[in-house]
Formats: sequence, C-alpha cells, structure tokens
Amino acid sequence: MVTILQAAFEQQEIEHLHRQITLLNNKLQEQSFLVKMTNILIKGHDLETTIKSILQLAMDITGSEAGCLYIADQNISQLKIVEVNGEISDALVEALSRLSQLLTNEELHKIVEITQNNSLFEYFAKLDNKLISLINVPLLTADNNVIGYAVVMHRHEAGHNHPSIYSSKDLKHLTLFAHQAALLLDNTRLKIEQGKKEIYIKTIASLISAIDAKDIYTQNHSQRVAKITVEFSKAMGLPGDIVEKLHYGALLHDIGKIGVPDSILNKPTSLNNGEFDVVKEHPVKGVRILAPMELDNIVLDIIKYHHERFDGRGYPNGLKGEKIPFAARIVSIVDAWDAMNSDRAYRSRLSQEQILTELEKGKGTQFDPFLAGEFIILLTKNFFN
Ligand SMILES: [Fe+2]
Repeated sequence: MVTILQAAFEQQEIEHLHRQITLLNNKLQEQSFLVKMTNILIKGHDLETTIKSILQLAMDITGSEAGCLYIADQNISQLKIVEVNGEISDALVEALSRLSQLLTNEELHKIVEITQNNSLFEYFAKLDNKLISLINVPLLTADNNVIGYAVVMHRHEAGHNHPSIYSSKDLKHLTLFAHQAALLLDNTRLKIEQGKKEIYIKTIASLISAIDAKDIYTQNHSQRVAKITVEFSKAMGLPGDIVEKLHYGALLHDIGKIGVPDSILNKPTSLNNGEFDVVKEHPVKGVRILAPMELDNIVLDIIKYHHERFDGRGYPNGLKGEKIPFAARIVSIVDAWDAMNSDRAYRSRLSQEQILTELEKGKGTQFDPFLAGEFIILLTKNFFN
C-alpha cells in the first residue's frame, strides 16, 4: 500500500516537474525570441532595411508564407504599401490597403485574425484563392498612434502542410513584436526627418553666405530681413510652422542674385534698362536654383514674388493685391524697410521718419495696406530694436 502511494506521489512529482520544465523551456524560448527580435530590429538603420526586417521577422515568428507592410499617414484612412514579401496577388495587396474601410476603429487598434469564420475572409479569398488565413497587426506607438500595419498570411503552397489558423503563441509573439517594431519604425522615421532638416538648414546657411559674399552693398541683408520677418510674423500671431517657413523664405529671398553678374550687382551708379532687366530675373532664377531641394510652397512664393507690388506694377508676374501670396507680401515690406534702413553706394540710410513716410506712401501701391499698417505700428513702437 505504502509502495503504491509512494509511486503515485512520485508520479505526481514527476508530472509537476515536467510541467515546470516545459514552462521554463517556453520562457527561455520566449526570451531568446525577444533577444533575436531586438537584435535584428536594431541592425536596421535606414527606413528600407527597417521595414524589410520588420516584415520578415513578423513572418518568421508566425511561420507565415507571405506578408505585406503598410505605412499610415496622419490618419489611418490613407495606407501606403511599402513592402510585399511572398506571393500575394496585387488585388489582395490593394484590398488590404483599404483596411480602414473594412474594419472598425477598435479592430484597427488591435491584432485581428481573419480566418474562414470571419465575414471578411470570403472577400479576401476571392482575390487570392490560395489564402488560408491572415492576421492584421497594427504598429502602435507608445501613445497609441497607428503608424502602419503588418499583414501576415498562411497560403496554400505546393509541398507545404500549413496550419489553417494561427496559434495563441503566434498572437502573443506578434503582440510583443508589434510594439517593438512600431517603436523602431517611428524612431527611424524621426531620425530621417531630423537628418533631412539638418541637411536643409546647412544648405540654406551655405547658400546665404554665397549671396552675402557676392553683394558688397547688402551684407547680412538676408539675415536681417529674416530676423525682422520672424518678429513681425510672430507679432501678428502667425502659427509657429508658418513662421518657420517665412524664416527660410526670407533668408533665401534673394538667392537668385547668385545668377546676376557682379558688375551689375555691385555697380555704384544707377542701372540702365538692360541691367535692370537682368536684376529683375533674380526671383525666377532663385526658384530655379532651388528646384531640386523640393522646398515648401511658402518658401518658394517668397522667393518668386517678393518684388510684386500691391498695385500690380511689380515683377516678375505683375500680380495684383491678394493674388500675391501672403508670405511674399510680408517679406516685401521687410525687404523694402531694410533697404531704406541701410547705406548704399549712392545714398545714406534713411531716417526713421523718412522710412515711416515712405511706408505710409506705399500702402496700397507698393505694399499690402493692412500689413504695411501693422508694420508701421510696430516700427513706431520701436518693436524691432
Ligand atoms: Fe530681391
């Protein structure tokens, strides 16, 4: 009796131990999976490699035969396909890009498995007759924003014997994975954006010094116009992102002067008609020079239209009134103010009183009357000193 009891007890112990070992084993597997996943993801330093790694890994850990990855814009109604892995029909890739119209908002924020029991399955299977099941995995950032979706799927392929559904382990691994992947994707995107901005600012800085080096009479003119444009725009309550574009536009407004011969630019006496025609080309030349940089339209508007006049007698297009872009109307005033406030070879700088008279005269002729009025008020308060 004792022996039977002892044997049963030992059997229980062994089973218990066995369960413990299995649990431990699973935990170890999970740990090594996490380490492997993190290592692969960290290696991807550019956006393309990161996207490829994320999709490959999502497929590897679930044993999927195919997958695709979409990036979401500001809102998740716009999905852009960025990577396809395996044999998926174009029609299915296209249909999956419209997920936001097919799933509820709640479903779009969690992992959704679409199997034969799901009403959507039939729709997708019609587009790909080898489809067995698929999982849609949202790539969620820490603040719960969807930045994209990875879709992995089981498909019938010759010589393979696939499970028809994903296991709970697959789903658990995907949940862990999706958070890491989203974090990494978001960071890589931010790093690229930041990098672009740095290159952009450095390019602008070198272009500005190129203009300054060329025109001996207007040294630092661009920087001064940019500084006052920013102060003026802020005082009028314009939002920060617009002020930033006005800043770049003002810095670059005369960039086209790089294309004007020094003999004309630095001529100490008045220009003849032919010479003035060459100078008048600088706004258009500026836009042409900067075309490869794909600058924002506000920046380009400033460069192209800062010599337009409110009465339509300006250049290059003779635009009139509010047809002249708003940003260009602002910079036009600051540009004129700095010219009057600086010494030239043929005249000394104007007094504050003379400048105010000129600006007042220019209301509605050279300048936008409202903006010129605002500028005059700030100038009389010595706002820009
Ligand atoms: Fe100019």
